[in-house]
Amino acid sequence: MEDPLRIGVIGCGSMGREHMRLIASMSEGQLAGVCDTHTASAQRAAEMFGVPAWTDLDRFLEEARPEVVHICSPSGLHADQAMAAAERGVHVLSEKPLDLNLEKVDRLIALCDRQGVWLGCIFQRRMSRALQTVRQAIVEGRMGRILSCSVSIKWWRSQEYYNSSPWRGTWALDGGALANQGIHALDQMVWMAGPVEEVEYAHLETAMHAIEVEDLAIAVVRFASGARGVIEVTTCCRPDLGSRMEIYGTNGAAAFEDARVVRFGLDGEDLMPTLDDPGMLTGGGSDPMAIQLAGHEAQIRDFYRAIRERRPPVVDGREARLSVDLLNRIYARARPGQKPGT
Ligand SMILES: NC(=O)c1ccc[n+]([C@@H]2O[C@H](COP(=O)([O-])OP(=O)(O)OC[C@H]3O[C@@H](n4cnc5c(N)ncnc54)[C@H](O)[C@@H]3O)[C@@H](O)[C@H]2O)c1
Repeated sequence: MEDPLRIGVIGCGSMGREHMRLIASMSEGQLAGVCDTHTASAQRAAEMFGVPAWTDLDRFLEEARPEVVHICSPSGLHADQAMAAAERGVHVLSEKPLDLNLEKVDRLIALCDRQGVWLGCIFQRRMSRALQTVRQAIVEGRMGRILSCSVSIKWWRSQEYYNSSPWRGTWALDGGALANQGIHALDQMVWMAGPVEEVEYAHLETAMHAIEVEDLAIAVVRFASGARGVIEVTTCCRPDLGSRMEIYGTNGAAAFEDARVVRFGLDGEDLMPTLDDPGMLTGGGSDPMAIQLAGHEAQIRDFYRAIRERRPPVVDGREARLSVDLLNRIYARARPGQKPGT
């Protein structure tokens, strides 16, 4: 047995503590320390997990000497913090999105290449075996020529949710519903249907909440393959109507709810009975933390194995870049001249 990897977690909020719980349950990694600029949050996590805490990132990297960091801080900080770690030869597993700003993401990917460290990003839906089976059918051409791929996330977030942390609902650190909640859908879309070539229409609106970003987004896109798609994301929908994606080609179709496949057929045959997908049933429709963590656990284990086996993780920096690229294109269309994460 190899020694466990030394793990550090940056950001000790709700998602950071979930990562810490998962790390504590694994033999492949050992929590070496945590970092949060908010002293009370850092101390609370340190007490919960019996590890030292830092409030300064450079000192944390210097003194905790992690081999891997998990980044669970506000989204607009991910790339800068990841670059600080990668500069020191530390592998990085970031929460979604990889960042809000595409230029920073590109600098980060190039730096990780130069430093020989792995960069991964949590998109837990990609760990679903059922989703992987459908994607494989698409990639192998068994769904025929893809004609359309559309996603919708119609969730509810209260004003209290946005008020609960200073970074939420800000252009610099969170982005709007599209960047925070919608990024799961954008990732699933480009993973299944390939990159988007053009955003033909984009509408962003702040319909219900006192925030500086959109809580309602609609976009129409054309994929590089020629397929078309519609994106609809909101945090104004109560009761929440869930998260769906539908894709069809000349020889088949599939529909998804959260990380579940709910319809799948090829060649006129219903393939639903052939799919196997334990766990991973719910999303975060009304409660942001009501997500199941089976996908997180599988992705973290994969990341540690990837380091040992010197192979890319299941969602590496280039894969995670695809959704940041699409996000930036939609924002560029609707808010010309303004770059998210700045
Ligand atoms: N994969 C998922 O389904 C999922 C679900 C929820 C959140 N997330 C992601 O996790 C990240 C964190 O979200 P959260 O819900 O835990 O937020 P949160 O507000 O609960 O926690 C964020 C923490 O980061 C800390 N922080 C702020 N600035 C910092 C800095 N400069 N350095 C270190 N720490 C800093 C805050 O003090 C806070 O403790 C976000 O990027 C979010 O998109 C992912």
